Amino acid sequence: MSTHGTEAPRPIRIALLGCGTVGGEVVRLLTEQAGELAARVGAPLELAGIAVRRPDKHPELPPQLLTPDPAKLIESDADVVVELIGGIEPVRDWLLAALHKGKSVVTANKALLAECSGELSEAADSSGADLYFEAAVAGAIPLLRPLRESLAGDRITRVMGIVNGTTNYILSAMDSTGAGYAETLDEASRLGYAEADPTADVDGYDAASKAAILASLAFHSRVTVADVHREGIAGVSSSDILAAQKIGRVVKLLAICERVTAEEGAESVSARVHPVMIPRAHQLAGVGGAFNAVYVEADAAGELMFYGQGAGGAPTASAVLGDLVTVARNRVLAGRGPRESAHAALPIRPMGQTPTRYHISLDVADRAGVLAQVAQVFAVHDVSIAAVRQRDRLSTASLVIVTHSAPDSALQSTVDEISRLDVVREVVSVMRVEGEDS
Ligand code: NDP
Ligand code: HSE
Repeated sequence: MSTHGTEAPRPIRIALLGCGTVGGEVVRLLTEQAGELAARVGAPLELAGIAVRRPDKHPELPPQLLTPDPAKLIESDADVVVELIGGIEPVRDWLLAALHKGKSVVTANKALLAECSGELSEAADSSGADLYFEAAVAGAIPLLRPLRESLAGDRITRVMGIVNGTTNYILSAMDSTGAGYAETLDEASRLGYAEADPTADVDGYDAASKAAILASLAFHSRVTVADVHREGIAGVSSSDILAAQKIGRVVKLLAICERVTAEEGAESVSARVHPVMIPRAHQLAGVGGAFNAVYVEADAAGELMFYGQGAGGAPTASAVLGDLVTVARNRVLAGRGPRESAHAALPIRPMGQTPTRYHISLDVADRAGVLAQVAQVFAVHDVSIAAVRQRDRLSTASLVIVTHSAPDSALQSTVDEISRLDVVREVVSVMRVEGEDS
């Protein structure tokens, strides 16, 4: 749709699917900033309808716009569909239908994108519609557009960061106040950070979906959530937090996406989400509450850091509105945003072959030869030790070992074998280490 002459531009009609934590803020901003947004787009933005599960629970919204039937809105004359319901089915079918009809889609649905962004992109290509999803990763932080557009001429080698606000909120509280896990999770839900089912946050699914989206964009390959190694924070105990504190580190849940180059030059992608210990002096260590922060390393650009509010209604709505203005502008100018770029099609490197480093804290019998026995297990698995610290107690000794980089499967086998040694009373804490020279 282009505007010529003095004719008033036709409004861009928006079908809003979902009006909860994020959708409610989108409606507020659309209403409060209607004049300003119209000036930026070159045409007014107008709500064609709002789909919610229970229209009777939304007295704050104009009743004539409400429907419990998203499919009906997809069939309407809307130009753009903004999806803020979440989950995979039936949202996938609704968005595919919208894209096939040529309606542009803006979504914050990382779970859906991490499962079938290829299919959605193909549907967008088939009709020339736009598909934008900035809010799906790291809330308010402009991160996907820099990866997709600003760094399109560079070669990204690594994307690493805190991409889940809920778990960062919980880990920050455990570290600073010693607060309990359950009470902190309840608070994160109350503040609107957690997913409808908070196990998606706690078990790392949300961060794994975001890692898949980041790896796909950074490495021009289709990476799905099934390709991402995932460990959540349910296994992080107060012993782990304490063990980290004792050696000047802090526990964070990180998403780490890397371009790995083998000796013979073949490239692959490693994508993983798991708790790590990082030095307290590391920039990611100071990222507290529901904030997110992501490092991007690229050949020419060097290191970049993106930081800001990673969850919550208003911050996420900011990213949704940014996308909405872009796709609406494209409609007005009869243009289109960038297509999916997956030409590199790099294979996925299994977690077992990915080089990592471990921090291992053990209670062992305090007698001669114990350290040699433990060290022997490391040697058998070809894992090199970077540092050992021993502290004696009455009849046991506390042993803290930090390894050099080794294939993750070798480190896992080492820990398994050590835990079976007679001289090992207890494996107090095992966690991967990031953020220092290997
Ligand atoms: P909410 O649970 O707060 O809102 C979901 C909305 O969808 C509600 O309005 C609900 O209706 C509606 N809905 C649910 N099922 C249906 C259905 N079958 N038909 C019609 N409407 C339906 O979710 P959020 O706003 O927190 O999240 C929305 C999306 O944004 C998700 O994909 C989430 O992952 C993503 N996101 C969320 C962030 C956050 O901080 N909250 C940050 C970044 C992304 P009703 O109100 O009647 O229940
Ligand atoms: N539940 C998500 C989080 C919302 O806690 O980060 C933002 O994507």
